[in-house]
Amino acid sequence: MPAPRPDLALLPRPSKVSPLGGRLTLGRDTAVRALPGAEPAADLLRSLVGPATGLPLAPSPEGRIVLALDDRLVGLGEEGYGLTVGPQALLLRAAHPTGLLRGVQTVRQLLPAEALLLSGGPAAGPWELPCVEITDVPDRPWRGALLDVARHFQPVGYLRRYVDLLALHKLNVLHLHLTDDQGWRMPVDAYPRLTSVGSRRARSQRGPSGPGGTHFDAVPHEGAYTKAELRGLVRYAAERGVTVVPEIEMPGHVRAALAAHPELGNSPGRSLEVWDRWGVCGTVLGVHEEVFDFCRTVLEEVMDVFPSPYIHIGGEECPTTEWENSPAARERAAAEGLADPAALHGWFLGRIGAFLVERGRIPVGWAVSGTELPLDFTVMTWRDPAHALAAARRGHRVVAAHHRATYLDYAQSGDPSEPVAQPGAPVTLRTVHDYEPAPGEWAEDVRDRVLGTQAQLWTEYARTPEEIEYLGFPRLCALADRSWSGGRGDWPGFVGRLRHHTARLDALGVPYHPLDAGPPATAPAPSGTARPHS
Ligand code: ACM
Repeated sequence: MPAPRPDLALLPRPSKVSPLGGRLTLGRDTAVRALPGAEPAADLLRSLVGPATGLPLAPSPEGRIVLALDDRLVGLGEEGYGLTVGPQALLLRAAHPTGLLRGVQTVRQLLPAEALLLSGGPAAGPWELPCVEITDVPDRPWRGALLDVARHFQPVGYLRRYVDLLALHKLNVLHLHLTDDQGWRMPVDAYPRLTSVGSRRARSQRGPSGPGGTHFDAVPHEGAYTKAELRGLVRYAAERGVTVVPEIEMPGHVRAALAAHPELGNSPGRSLEVWDRWGVCGTVLGVHEEVFDFCRTVLEEVMDVFPSPYIHIGGEECPTTEWENSPAARERAAAEGLADPAALHGWFLGRIGAFLVERGRIPVGWAVSGTELPLDFTVMTWRDPAHALAAARRGHRVVAAHHRATYLDYAQSGDPSEPVAQPGAPVTLRTVHDYEPAPGEWAEDVRDRVLGTQAQLWTEYARTPEEIEYLGFPRLCALADRSWSGGRGDWPGFVGRLRHHTARLDALGVPYHPLDAGPPATAPAPSGTARPHS
């Protein structure tokens, strides 16, 4: 495998790259001509490249940088683009505005890495791009990243940076895990206690539980967003072609909500703290009508803030013991004709899913087995690749996110100096890059129902942006490369491009895991097991 030309070491790898001779130099007089509908892409180019380079990239009908929509380019789909860089001009074309946004990120990567600098004023240049012809179309439409802001809150300014990092890699979904046992971050006007009470915990577990017991810090942790912040984030992400998919967990992972509203639980008189431990919490929502009113009201407000077609309602790790022990829940199960109280889980999610469908949204849920949810759910499978196959065979749309390949809270090497991480064998860069969400041996129609994949960054052990980015990078680069390229993804080629791509991560100040650090993982990956969250 020849070493890639550094100036063509693009990540993710485009479908087709034909180097041409020469270079295009951008100067202060280089203007941008945006044809109708291409203005947002021109604005994005200007706002991303302008500050670091000092280039005005002014709008002009005579501009040598031409951005154009052409609806005859249907083969490019929603996100594909064609880019021609010649010695005198640059032409970026797409069938859809989102394709132009993806092409803008390629233009950024063709420039010297200093063009990515986020602060420190304009760098010196020169601002040259290699002449090249690129045609680029992603393999699948869902290339996402979950960030858990419930276990550890991150301010919205950091979420904007995260969106920028995703967009640079052509990842297109930010899945925002907004609520969990340890914190409720979504403002809900009808239930202000969700954030005034549910967004604060008195202390946090430090590290995993072990033979020496469970240890805690003595530091309160809190944080919640305002609706204005979240609307601003949604807008910021949309300008970059990234959809923010909100997740509100139910009927389990709700301890923070129950600390605020014990009347929604199975023992209404009980007083609960926001949980300060990691793991699966036994407290779950009750099944009385007041609970459904609560869920619908919360989701109405969520839908008002998040225009995403997809609304995630969690659904996993819901112990049914409280329902089994509750006369009211047992009575409800019997009245609904359910076999037992455990069946309330599917019934609960089915009701909420139907409500979202009525409102024109697509419910998303974590799979328990892949076959337990109504068919209008998009199913996110994580425990076992067999669940992705089962769900897709059944007719679900599937986002395949197997924990042994996409959970970035596991360490990335077996080196004992790695920071404290989720217990389990490492998830290496290679494992992430090798992950195929819809293996070629599956039937074509089944593979077609796999929307794509996404990385998960659960934050029990990642408290700060630095810790998040150390775990995230370069594994997010691997996920982005493979998920954009699909079966065309090749590991040696990725590694070669990544060695050049690190200059971009350096320019952006990403504290990524060193490429050559750590011995290879030797521990066998426990496949097909439920991931203990504790
Ligand atoms: C999950 O890991 N709780 C989906």
